[in-house]
Amino acid sequence: HRKFVCVDPHDIPLVAFVDSDMMMGMPKSLAAATGMDAMTHAIEGFITKGAWEMTDMLHIKAIEIIGRSLRDSVKGDQAGREAMALGQYIAGMGFSNVGLGLVHGMAHPLSAWYNIPHGVACASLLPTIMKYNKDFTGEKYREIAIVLGIEGAEAMSLEDVRDAACQAIDQLSKDVGIPATISELGVKEEDIPAIAKDALNDVCTPGNPRDTTLEEIIELYRSLM
Ligand SMILES: [Fe+2]
Repeated sequence: HRKFVCVDPHDIPLVAFVDSDMMMGMPKSLAAATGMDAMTHAIEGFITKGAWEMTDMLHIKAIEIIGRSLRDSVKGDQAGREAMALGQYIAGMGFSNVGLGLVHGMAHPLSAWYNIPHGVACASLLPTIMKYNKDFTGEKYREIAIVLGIEGAEAMSLEDVRDAACQAIDQLSKDVGIPATISELGVKEEDIPAIAKDALNDVCTPGNPRDTTLEEIIELYRSLM
């Protein structure tokens, strides 16, 4: 029941072939789950505690590309798949340098306990954790709203634009068929305290812009049941 990150110079490839032709056979559900995972990397990397100018540049571009191409990619459109191959790669270049946050911290135990695919676990948590983090993100949700094409994002109040960014990601997740509750994914109420403990101890959790507690993580999981 434990999933954890292993990183060593020996598991980093010298060369990677990122070829969308090889991704054309993915079923819709896999394109949706992996695509939402890539969006989670971009958003968590963008707002993580260690974020800085160079990684911001990568993450905001990744959010823009993934935001405009994930729906087409899920439909099986070739241009959409090609754009997602690029978007996920740019996001990976960003977050590999700064880390992630509470979405990944809370997603890892869900996969370890219930075999929930990683991308589905991340996507089911992302809108809720974005809302939880919103007061700890400065103007970054405005930047997200702008690249997602939300009309009037430049002029909105900070509160409104933060809500609009969360809403847009929630909608994207729904549009590609991600379940809105974790009970639909098999999570059991009685397991939540133990899962929350694993999430608190996950290596990704300290990168979250808002410091969290065991009680808050329990509440967040419960709110998603
Ligand atoms: Fe991930």
